[in-house]
Amino acid sequence: MGKNLVRALVPVTFMVATWILWELGGGEVGTREALRGTARIAFLPFILAFVARPLDDLRSSAFSRWLVANRKTLGVSFGLSLSIHLWLILWLFYLSAPSVPDAVTLTDLSIGAPGLAFVFAMVFTSMNRVRASMSAVLWKRIHTFGQYLVWFIFVGCLTESFGHKSPPYSALEYTPFIGALFIAMGIRLGAGLFGPNGRFSQKTA
Ligand code: HEM
Repeated sequence: MGKNLVRALVPVTFMVATWILWELGGGEVGTREALRGTARIAFLPFILAFVARPLDDLRSSAFSRWLVANRKTLGVSFGLSLSIHLWLILWLFYLSAPSVPDAVTLTDLSIGAPGLAFVFAMVFTSMNRVRASMSAVLWKRIHTFGQYLVWFIFVGCLTESFGHKSPPYSALEYTPFIGALFIAMGIRLGAGLFGPNGRFSQKTA
């Protein structure tokens, strides 16, 4: 049930993107709105996968155990949802060829592009067979670095969005997303300090 719920996110992202393009057209305006929509939907599985383990380490509950059990599906759903973001990016480039689209910023190119490459590397290395063929250390490095990179990209893209992008949305719309990112980072840092393997863990050796 949990896994199916999470998997449903990919078709939902696709349907929302199609609906936005249907309503606003497949030109620049519609594509930019669809890009925003897909990024916002992909945000949910990302943030849940990001906090799953640390939340469970800090305060185990039925919810945190559900997150841990579905962490892989959440991560893969995030990656696949974001692949719709990629198709829209390619479409936007096609629309403005041979120039770089106005909506594409330095943040998108400098950290968004390597971030996307990391996301797809994480999805690929999540396959059981690929994971089994890799060293555990390399796997962990890719996934840990990739998660922090994506966190950073979300902060960058969302803070850049208000004020700079058109049509502008109110800061109020972005506050819950940015707030959730900082709370999630706080949970991770908290678990790093006070979790079972944390620096200030009360567990005795
Ligand atoms: C891991 C990689 C990426 C993440 C997490 C990400 C995330 C985001 C977020 C959060 C937004 C803003 C949503 C909003 O305003 O509500 C956004 C919009 C957008 N992104 Fe990405 N993005 C990524 C990669 C990229 C790349 C590589 C490009 C292009 C080279 C790109 C191009 C855009 C564009 C054009 C928009 C819409 C801008 C507008 O509001 O008009 N993104 N993305």
